Amino acid sequence: MSGHSSYTPKSGLGKWIDARMPLPRLMYDSFVAYPVPRNLNYAYAFGGILSIMLVAQILTGVVLAMHYAADTGLAFNSVEKIMRDVNSGWLLRYMHANGASFFFIAVYIHIFRGLYYGSYKAPRELLWILGVLIYFLMMATGFMGYVLPWGQMSFWGATVITGFFTAIPLVGEWIQTFLLGGFAVDNPTLNRFFSLHYLLPFMIAGVVVLHVWALHVTGQTNPTGIEVKSKTDTLAFTPYATMKDAFAMVVFIAVLAYFIFYIPNYLGHPDNYTIANPLKTPAHIVPEWYYLPFYAILRAITFSIGPIDSKLGGVIAMFGSILILFVVPWLDTSKVRSAVYRPWYKLFFWLFVIDAIFLGWLGSRPAEGTYVAMAQVATAYYFAFFIIIMPILGLIETPKRLPNSITEAVLEKNKGGASVQPAGSAASPETKG
Ligand code: HEM
Repeated sequence: MSGHSSYTPKSGLGKWIDARMPLPRLMYDSFVAYPVPRNLNYAYAFGGILSIMLVAQILTGVVLAMHYAADTGLAFNSVEKIMRDVNSGWLLRYMHANGASFFFIAVYIHIFRGLYYGSYKAPRELLWILGVLIYFLMMATGFMGYVLPWGQMSFWGATVITGFFTAIPLVGEWIQTFLLGGFAVDNPTLNRFFSLHYLLPFMIAGVVVLHVWALHVTGQTNPTGIEVKSKTDTLAFTPYATMKDAFAMVVFIAVLAYFIFYIPNYLGHPDNYTIANPLKTPAHIVPEWYYLPFYAILRAITFSIGPIDSKLGGVIAMFGSILILFVVPWLDTSKVRSAVYRPWYKLFFWLFVIDAIFLGWLGSRPAEGTYVAMAQVATAYYFAFFIIIMPILGLIETPKRLPNSITEAVLEKNKGGASVQPAGSAASPETKG
């Protein structure tokens, strides 16, 4: 942890522990006294929400695994048994399945927040890269989890996705066989997917620790994008951020609870309530909603480019659309961090959000006719946003006037409003760190 510590152990035991392994000190400095910008809005609550969701997914998953059988002859029925015979099994399963979807909703808001406020810019590049790595691991975890109930979509989704790898020249077939543990999706596939689906969340948890570590070195950004300059720019994490985050979590969990208790299968696919049948291909094979934009990008490449045929081109575009996130800190050339002061970037950003949602919708449509043409246009904008707009706009855009400090921005915003603490008054005593 960077910076000076204001922790003083109160009891004898506290002092004893502090001299040997100062974990309470670390917790106090990171989550109690830690100074956060005083102008954080609710978009900044999603990191906390994600942490809670990760814990919830691990807890429900571990209990589900006590009743689940990773064998192609048993898997489907073991899930049905969880739903019908295991005490509160239906609740565990619906929490886990809908929890996965909500985990992705939270991560998408978290990523878009980062893109809007320029969170990835120096000195937070590593923080961002660790985030993209987490996202990548989340995608792999979600994909393997969906195979476990061994329904029709589980089987065919896995068949289609692992089939992408055959597009890679020379080693493609070998990679596919390696992933599957054979020449088709079968028992070895289910076993290794179960093993990895259990393992990866713990790896994610490990990367989250690094993510939060990096965050505590640089500190959080804030909607103005101006760095903290004085004590009056910040408030203590507890109670201010803790309470705000807790409120956001309650609202988020209330919406999740609505899905769990009233529409638990809304985000799922009915075909997955039919047991996997390798001899019967469903009419439309669609992945989970959170992969749909990438699925649309994959299928948008219907033409070959030089030696690259359309299949390989699709796979490159699909992986490229995620990998490009790693280099975002170096694509954005703007000196101003936050979109609040960048009118043109703001416009292109919202177009990008609409574009991503549109791609998601296109991913759920059959890959034919105008859908393909629309997916090609949307894919072109997706990449143009990163490769053309971000670098060029940063050089030519005239930003709005920036306030001198976070405190000035807060006071300016509240001018004429009732309750503003003037800088340096009552805020200071609470602001430790
Ligand atoms: C399990 C998934 C994740 C967890 C638990 C997590 C956790 C957190 C937490 C607690 C914060 C501080 C609070 C906040 O700003 O919301 C944070 C900030 C941040 N996260 Fe994540 N995160 C996750 C995934 C990601 C992903 C996928 C990305 C990017 C692709 C990302 C990028 C960032 C950045 C850049 C910040 C700093 C934001 C700022 O200060 O402006 N995170 N994260």
